[in-house]
Amino acid sequence: MLVDSHCHLYFDAYDEDRAEVIARARRDGVQVMLSLGVDVVSSRATVALAEAHEGIYAAVGVHPNDASKAWEGERTLEALRALAASPKVVAIGEIGLDYYRDRTPRPLQWHVLRQQLDLAAELGLPVSIHNREATADLFGILREWVADLRDEGSPLAERPGVWHAFGGSVAEGEKAVALGFRLGIGGPLTFKNAPERREVAAALPLRALLVETDSPFLAPHPYRGRRNEPAYVRLVAARLAEVQGLDFETVAAATSHNALQLFQWRDSV
Ligand code: NI
Repeated sequence: MLVDSHCHLYFDAYDEDRAEVIARARRDGVQVMLSLGVDVVSSRATVALAEAHEGIYAAVGVHPNDASKAWEGERTLEALRALAASPKVVAIGEIGLDYYRDRTPRPLQWHVLRQQLDLAAELGLPVSIHNREATADLFGILREWVADLRDEGSPLAERPGVWHAFGGSVAEGEKAVALGFRLGIGGPLTFKNAPERREVAAALPLRALLVETDSPFLAPHPYRGRRNEPAYVRLVAARLAEVQGLDFETVAAATSHNALQLFQWRDSV
């Protein structure tokens, strides 16, 4: 079994062949896919998709790059809260900070992230975190949030979320894990020119790792630059097994178990 812990299946890149993409993933052993929204409209689409397919679950949220356009304060929170009432919604995401694209003023990014972390705490849902060149500020905000969860005795303190597409150092990874976060490993692990990614992934604890594709983006080698799809998570897991010196089945089972522990989806829905 494999879990693709981060993809965007509602993208129009799949409009022509979405059913085949999903069927290919299943055929290749990807039994569970988590599809994440980036604003209210895409969150609604991803919940509808999850409700129509066994094995597909949804996360709802506003991405930092979409926040300038998509964030309408209380109205947005209310819409996300309503969507999260679906039993197929297992996380709040994709949320976070992005100083690379910097499409949203930073104070607004901080506000939107904090509001959605509070929503996650209120709903008891873990978060899926996006970071680009904002590591220090992100740690500051997440550390505060987790401290509050711990103070309140929230069960979410044990499973606050996943740091998706983790691209930091071993020390940063360990710091995130100490806060309770899992780390999402994706296509860049397989890139020819990314030996440092493999060094880091070799040193991270398997008990904290998830595998992901971020489809339709970041396709792993040998599909780099083409459209990504959840079936390719197998290539990420295979490379992770290689760098950790383990067999494929061990890594597939461990990362699937870690994802289930974090997102706690229910088989029956
Ligand atoms: Ni993403």
